[in-house]
Amino acid sequence: MRVAVASDHGGYALKKELLASLSDLVVEFVDFGCDSEVAVDYPDYASVVARKVAIGEFDAGILLCGTGLGMAITANKVPGIRAVTVHDAFSAKATRAHNNSNILAMGGRVIGPGAADTIARIFLSTPFEGGRHQRRLDKVKDLEDHFADQLDTDVKPSC
Ligand code: RB5
Repeated sequence: MRVAVASDHGGYALKKELLASLSDLVVEFVDFGCDSEVAVDYPDYASVVARKVAIGEFDAGILLCGTGLGMAITANKVPGIRAVTVHDAFSAKATRAHNNSNILAMGGRVIGPGAADTIARIFLSTPFEGGRHQRRLDKVKDLEDHFADQLDTDVKPSC
């Protein structure tokens, strides 16, 4: 399993602790920044991880910012991404089993490294259940496709 990881400054410390604590997993983590607690813009990092997961270069993504919210909002703009902000174990399991979520976002100002480790382990090991949940995700995809088409036809040349 290959997992793309990134943070902004608000999630940087949590990212470092999480990557260290998850090092026993048989998972390849690739860190796409940022590399310090100097302030950066979370969309720059969320978009990289989301694109890489969407094209299949990575099986899943983990995004860390102050709240986990801006990262998820940004990642969900990329077609095929189902990013969720999760800060509890029940939701981590449910969102994999029911939503087939492919990016986990967490907030370094919300939870500590112990809880983040537990949540990430659950997220990365829980399989999607399929069945009726796939039917629902097909409807989510229909919505995504519908608005993608709308946007395409709405684009007007600027000159
Ligand atoms: C940065 O101050 C903060 O806004 C960011 O880390 C994140 O929480 C955004 O959703």
